[in-house]
Amino acid sequence: MKSAILDEPQTIKSFDKGNMLDFCFNSAKLYREGAKLADKIKVCYSKPDNIIVAGMGGSGIGGDLLKDWVRNKTDVPIEVNRDYNLPAYAGKKTLVLLTSYSGDTEESLGAFLDALRRKCMIFCVSSGGAVLENAERLKVPYLRVPGGMSPRAALPYLFVPLIACLEKMGLAAGASEELKEALKLLEKISKDNSPDKLVKENFSKTLALNIGQTAPVVYGSGYYRSVAMRFKQQFNENSKVPAKWEVFSELNHNEIVGWESAGELAKCFSTIFIRDRDEPTEISSRIQITKELVTKAGLPLYEVHTQGESSLARMLSTICIGDFTSVYLAVLRGVDPTPVKTINYLKDTLKQNGVKEKIIGELAKLS
Ligand code: F6R
Repeated sequence: MKSAILDEPQTIKSFDKGNMLDFCFNSAKLYREGAKLADKIKVCYSKPDNIIVAGMGGSGIGGDLLKDWVRNKTDVPIEVNRDYNLPAYAGKKTLVLLTSYSGDTEESLGAFLDALRRKCMIFCVSSGGAVLENAERLKVPYLRVPGGMSPRAALPYLFVPLIACLEKMGLAAGASEELKEALKLLEKISKDNSPDKLVKENFSKTLALNIGQTAPVVYGSGYYRSVAMRFKQQFNENSKVPAKWEVFSELNHNEIVGWESAGELAKCFSTIFIRDRDEPTEISSRIQITKELVTKAGLPLYEVHTQGESSLARMLSTICIGDFTSVYLAVLRGVDPTPVKTINYLKDTLKQNGVKEKIIGELAKLS
């Protein structure tokens, strides 16, 4: 792996044809724009019994971030739905936040249809597609976000409206102040990890080099469960590598046994621990022992330390570091971070089975 190329901004640019780095670098700006858009949201629903965020991939991750962020803020249970149908409990007192960047994702359309049939309270976030066509026609409240991006790069547009919805409904306080802090921190993180910063002073470039030819395994805890998930997704889609994520303390009850006799297999992986200075001591002790175990198994181990004060600032800034790292890893591997041709192939091939058409047909019958 030629590490020198990460010190050549022009070479980085030549691999990053779809300008994924621009989205990383401008994330503060995008979150600011997302917040401006979200300001317009009017939600006139009563307090729900439960909340379901329905979305897949780069759209669904916003639901997981929301779930972790509000865990200590709201008494309303929240679940992320990644299926064609909603769980049996979904009904009139369920708030369904439907997020699909394209507005054309099969599972999300299925969940939309199900939510409409069950007369749930629905709010859609999308850039268009069948989701917004039907939301408009059926007078379901929605927010239209700017199109033309990769869904995973549009996270600021997809996630901020979710927190705004909850804040406007009085279900979660403090979003605006936390976001304000996050924006400042994101500006700093973007500068510190920008393509112009040399490897020796650039955390994300160094992490990408350390990961090298291994498959990254990301461990999170608490708020950083969903952040670990996002790292994994970005390694898959941007760097085009196999990756996995796990959460403390569940990983202490299965994952660690997998390393016990990994032998030569251990060489294929590296571990990334997301660390937070306010980790509860019971979690720190588990992390410490787990670090010893993975080291003994022969796995390289790296740590990403969260920065900032509020939970939102810490989550979003850590995500930004993961996003940058995944793009630099793509560059090192000689791949363009932006295209996801395998996802597109799968979506195109699936069209032949007619399921999406059927769902769209069923949506059209509703009035
Ligand atoms: C592509 C990406 C994918 C999509 C997913 C769902 O950048 O991140 O994971 O997000 O295929 O599509 P949308 O977001 O359009 O509903």
